[in-house]
Amino acid sequence: MKIGIIVYSQTGNTYETARRLKERLEKDSRIVKLEQVTSIGKTPANIAAIKFDNLPKVEPYDLIVFAAPVQAFTLALVMKAYLEQIQSLQGKKVACFVTKRLASKWTGGNNAVNTMAKICAAKGASIIGRGIVVWAGRKRQQSIATCLDSLTNIISKTPRA
Ligand SMILES: Cc1cc2nc3c(=O)[nH]c(=O)nc-3n(C[C@H](O)[C@H](O)[C@H](O)COP(=O)(O)O)c2cc1C
Repeated sequence: MKIGIIVYSQTGNTYETARRLKERLEKDSRIVKLEQVTSIGKTPANIAAIKFDNLPKVEPYDLIVFAAPVQAFTLALVMKAYLEQIQSLQGKKVACFVTKRLASKWTGGNNAVNTMAKICAAKGASIIGRGIVVWAGRKRQQSIATCLDSLTNIISKTPRA
């Protein structure tokens, strides 16, 4: 099972979490590639106008973890635009996680991660896991650990070959 982690990160938090997930999966003897979605310039409100600098391909992977920040109570628009331009995720297993600053419930975490899962499922993916990391406050490390434990556990049950 070829695993890719495809991350969009504006200020580094989601990338750092994704890097730690890669480390954890590698400890479980998985081969994992971490790739970044990047865009050019300021993000326009119209997602059709977003210009990508790096657009990772999904075809090489059997299992993909997509990761992005919550922005303005929803999924970061660059990740939304990236997911929407993917042609097909048929036959692929997908897990999604988001990072966010605010701990309270109605600040976009569920909305963002469910949006990711919905777009991926509509393209044929089988959704195997979701996670939300809360960055602010004393519980940050605990929140990262909970998300990584959950995703590592789910992925560890998928076939290696
Ligand atoms: C433009 C913008 C909007 C944001 N909106 C939210 C929000 O609605 N809810 C929230 O909890 N955090 C929000 N945040 C905080 C980010 O989600 C949080 O810092 C995240 O971990 C950043 O990830 P990154 O470093 O990978 O970009 C926002 C950050 C930015 C820059």
